[in-house]
Amino acid sequence: MYVADIRKKYFDFFREKGHTIVPSTSLVPDNDPTTLFTGSGMQPMLPYFLGESHPQGTRIADAQKAFRAQDIEEVGDNRHTTFFEMLGNWSFGEYFKNEQISWMFEFLTKELGIDPTRLYFTCYKGNDALSIPRDTDSATLWQSLYAEIGVTALIGENPEADGMQEGERIFYYGDKKNWWSRVGEPQQMPEGEPGGPDTEMFYDFGAELKLHEQSLWKDSVCHVNCDCGRFVEIGNNVFMQYVKKRDGFELLPKPNVDFGGGIERIAMAVKGVADIFLIDTMQAIIVRLASESGKDYGDARYQKSFRIVTDHIRGATFMIADNVTPANTEQGYILRRLIRRAVQHMDVLEATIPLSLLAEQVIDAYQEQYPELSAKRTHIETVIEEEEGRFRKTLESGMKEFKKIADRGDVSGEDAFILFSTYGFPIEMTEELASEKGLSIDRDAFDSAFREHRAQSKSGAEQKFKGGLADSSEKTTALHTATHLMLAGLRKHLGDHVHQAGSNITAERTRFDFTHTEKVSREVLDKVEAYVNEAITKNSTVTVEQMPKEEAKEKGVEGSFWEKYPDIVNVYVVKGDDGTVYSQELCGGPHVQNTKSMGTFKIVKEEASSQGVRRIKATLS
Ligand code: ALA
Repeated sequence: MYVADIRKKYFDFFREKGHTIVPSTSLVPDNDPTTLFTGSGMQPMLPYFLGESHPQGTRIADAQKAFRAQDIEEVGDNRHTTFFEMLGNWSFGEYFKNEQISWMFEFLTKELGIDPTRLYFTCYKGNDALSIPRDTDSATLWQSLYAEIGVTALIGENPEADGMQEGERIFYYGDKKNWWSRVGEPQQMPEGEPGGPDTEMFYDFGAELKLHEQSLWKDSVCHVNCDCGRFVEIGNNVFMQYVKKRDGFELLPKPNVDFGGGIERIAMAVKGVADIFLIDTMQAIIVRLASESGKDYGDARYQKSFRIVTDHIRGATFMIADNVTPANTEQGYILRRLIRRAVQHMDVLEATIPLSLLAEQVIDAYQEQYPELSAKRTHIETVIEEEEGRFRKTLESGMKEFKKIADRGDVSGEDAFILFSTYGFPIEMTEELASEKGLSIDRDAFDSAFREHRAQSKSGAEQKFKGGLADSSEKTTALHTATHLMLAGLRKHLGDHVHQAGSNITAERTRFDFTHTEKVSREVLDKVEAYVNEAITKNSTVTVEQMPKEEAKEKGVEGSFWEKYPDIVNVYVVKGDDGTVYSQELCGGPHVQNTKSMGTFKIVKEEASSQGVRRIKATLS
C-alpha cells in the first residue's frame, strides 16, 4: 500500500460517512498571526470550532500540508520530519466520541489492515484544579472495541512511573500529553482559545527492535509516550469541547471533533517498518540519492545525512510551491536553512548532482494531490538552484573561517553569528560541525544575537507575522480591506496578470506582494491610490457571499490558487453607496463592515520583491 492509496482510502472512508473532502490550504497561513507555517490540519478550521459555519457543512475531511519548524533539529531519527501531510476529519458540533473512536478503529484495523494488538491508546487524566473531568468515555470506548474482537484491553493509570503492565493498552496521561489546543496545555491558553481532551493512537514497532536500549531514555521507564521510538503516535482525536474564559473553562455551544494523523507515520504502521524514511514517497528520494552518491542508506555513517537531505528537500519543494523564497528572516529564513543544510549533507554523501534535481522526486510523488507542484516545477528548481549557488559561493571561505574558530576552541555565540551573517551558515550546520570536533557552541548567545539582528533589520520584529494579519485590531482589519481595494486598483491599471503573491498586514501598514515584472510608475500608483480612496469615501459596505467556485470565476471574482479552495467559496464584496462594485475577492476575512472611517490610503513604497514579484507598502491615516 502506497501513501497515495492510504490517502484515497481515508477520503473514501470519510466520504462514505457523509464528509466533504476539501483541498489543503497553503503552508503559509493566510490570516493566522500565531505561526509562520500551517502546522496542523485544524489551524485553517479554527473559526468553525467557535461557531462560524463552514461553507461545506458540518462534516469535513482533508489532507493538509503541514510544516513544523520546531522539529528541524529532531530530523535524523526514525520518525521526525519537518514537512508532513496531515489527514484530518472534523465534526463541527455534530458527531462526537462514539462515532470518531469506532470509525478510527475500523479505519485502522479493517481498511488499512493494521494488527489491533499493535495499537495502544492514551486518554486524558483530567485536572481537578480546573474542574475538567477525566475522559473515561474514550477509555471505555476503546476497551469495548477490543472486547468485540475478543481482546481484553486493560487501562494503565500511571504509565510514566509504572511502565506498561501485561494486558494494558489504554493509558491515562495529564495536561502535557492528552490535552490539545494550538498553544498547548490548558494553563497556557489565552482567553477565547478553544481546546479539549484528546485520545492519541500509537503503533508498537516491537520490543525486539531494542530501540529503548539504544536510546537516550534507556535508564528510564519505557511507555507509549517515552520518546525512545518503539511506540510511534499515528494520530490524535481531539474533542474540542471547551473554550478558555477569564475565570476558567466553559463548554463550547456544541462539542467538536478534530482528528489529525500524519500520513507518513500511518504508512510506517501499515508497512510495519520502524523508519519513516522507508515509506514509498521518501524512498523515491533516497534511491535517487543513493545512486547518485554511491552510498548506502543502511550505512550508519551516512544514514543521518540521507534523512536530512530527504526531509529538507521535501519541505523546501512544498514551501517554494506556496510562494516562499529564501531570505534572512521569517519563512524565507526557514527555507534557506532547509536548502543550505541539505546541500551540506549532500556534500557529506559526496553526491554530485545539484540539490534541485531531487525536487523532481518530490514533485513526481505528490503532483496528483498537489497540482501546484507540477505547475511550478521550473520555478521550484530555479529557486533551489540559485540558493545552492549563493551558498556555494561562501561555503569554502566559511569552512576556512570555521576551522580558524575551531582551532581556538569552543564556538562562541558571536562566532556562530558571524558564520551565519557573513558566510550564510545555518545554525544547525555550525552545531553539527562543532559537535563533529567535540566542541560546544553557545546557542543562547547566538539566539540573542540573531534576535537582535532581526529586530534591527528593516523587515524585522514587526513582521513576525508575515503572511496574513498580525492581529485583528480595527486598524489591521481596515488595512486588510484596503488591501483588497488596492489589488482591484492594480488589476484595473496594470492588467489581469496581477494577482496576490503574499501579504503581511499589521496595524501600521500593509505589505503586499503581487505578480508583475516591471517597476510601477508613480502615476499608476497615484491612480491606484485614488481608486482606493474613492471606494472609501463612497462609504462602501463589505459583505461576504458564499457561492460555487465556478460561479465566482464567471463573475470575475479575484483569487489566486483557485485549485486550493473548496467547491463553495467565501467572496468578499466591497460596494459603494452608488452601487459601484470596487472589489470582489476570495478571502477568509476579517474585514470592516463599512469603509467610512478607514481614513486616507497612501502607497508609500514600491519595490522588487523577488523574480516577477513586486512589493508595495501602504498605510491608512
Ligand atoms: N489538531 C490535532 C493535532 O495536531 C489533531 O494533533
